[in-house]
Amino acid sequence: MITLQRNTFVAPPLPAQEVEEAYRLLCERKGRGNDFLGWMDPAALAPPALLEQLKQEALRLRRQSRCVVVAGIGGSYLGARAVIEALSPSFPDSEDVRILYAGHHLSEEYYAELLAYLDTVDYSIIVISKSGTTTETAVAFRLLRQHCERKYGSRAAERVVCITDRAKGALKSLAEEKGYPSYVLPDDVGGRYSVLSPVGLLPIAVAGLDVSSLLAGAVRMHQEIRMQGTEHPAVRYAALRNALYRQGFSIEVMATFEPKLQFFIEWWKQLFGESEGKERKGVFPAGVVYTTDLHSMGQFMQDGSRLMWETFLEVERPQWHCEVPMLPDSDNGDALNFLGGKCLHEINRKACLGTVLAHEDGGVPSLSLRMDAVDANHLGQLVYFFEFACGVSAYLLGVNPFDQPGVEAYKKNMFALLGKPGYEEAAAALQQRMQRKK
Ligand code: PA5
Repeated sequence: MITLQRNTFVAPPLPAQEVEEAYRLLCERKGRGNDFLGWMDPAALAPPALLEQLKQEALRLRRQSRCVVVAGIGGSYLGARAVIEALSPSFPDSEDVRILYAGHHLSEEYYAELLAYLDTVDYSIIVISKSGTTTETAVAFRLLRQHCERKYGSRAAERVVCITDRAKGALKSLAEEKGYPSYVLPDDVGGRYSVLSPVGLLPIAVAGLDVSSLLAGAVRMHQEIRMQGTEHPAVRYAALRNALYRQGFSIEVMATFEPKLQFFIEWWKQLFGESEGKERKGVFPAGVVYTTDLHSMGQFMQDGSRLMWETFLEVERPQWHCEVPMLPDSDNGDALNFLGGKCLHEINRKACLGTVLAHEDGGVPSLSLRMDAVDANHLGQLVYFFEFACGVSAYLLGVNPFDQPGVEAYKKNMFALLGKPGYEEAAAALQQRMQRKK
């Protein structure tokens, strides 16, 4: 279960009718971008036969590999990594299959190191790109594919799986030409809403995690939202963040006290940032991992300029426990005996409460989202919770949650600067612009 609590709140609520309207637009598929709502029914997105096929594919990849490289960027990367990092052991068994990532940047140093490492282990590649043309992923895949062909010769094709569009894009053509097994990201699902499709499910299954439970959590959340309507915490969260935004709070800081949720926050940042940041509007999503960041960003949160509110992503119970709680020490040399008998989680929860109260004194409004535990079912619930909340929130803001026109601007410049055919005019304009700067 995911619950929502308003800790400190300083904004008048949005009119109920406005929230109803945004909720209705999404549910009745009448809002902007309504041709990208394939994620809304998670059971239909990954029906049992597809789920079984993905599990079998994952087993095959695990059997033949010590390591699987997942190549993708943005929505074709962050969801899988968020779930894998949250659910995998912090100190994995050295025998277990290792998941590595590629295609999410263009650092030469990283790829030189990655390819050198791949010389030493048996590996497979999952390449994910809906468009099939994203430069970062395409460049990484060319390097990986060539390495794989050099290493495995005629058997290289057994070590590559593609996830891409049903019919179009360079990756689709390449998959057909080389005979790679392929899975489809449906036309009506955008990258950042694709965690519960093959895009997220295959890498997560390859990591040895329980994709059935993840999906069951999302299905449950879908049903809960439909039953509770605008009373549901996901819709209330969407309304509260818009109420704060209208009061001038333009930054939402998602805070966790569980380091394993760091990448989940990265996924959340992308979901809300790319869905809402348009037409000169939107809340800037930021993230912190406490208590670590209380010793870096804590000062600013307590005392700096007041632009932000905090949403605490809280976990009620840990999956793993230290064998004994803090035992009293006979000489109490570290002066920690006041913690005697307490478990670390209890200490961490008090750190959280202390932070909520301190930041309240510092004038930072805050909300708490609580989940029972970081397990596959709850993560599935949380994924769907945020996807749905994001749709409602963007409609309240008055933008299309499902496009990302702003992402194209840097690509155009990069292609022009690199001399890509078709970008000659843009290249000349950039040259002139740079001359003027000198
Ligand atoms: O959410 C999105 O649509 C984007 O973040 C895309 O996932 C990202 O740009 C990668 O695109 P593609 O899957 O086409 O390579």
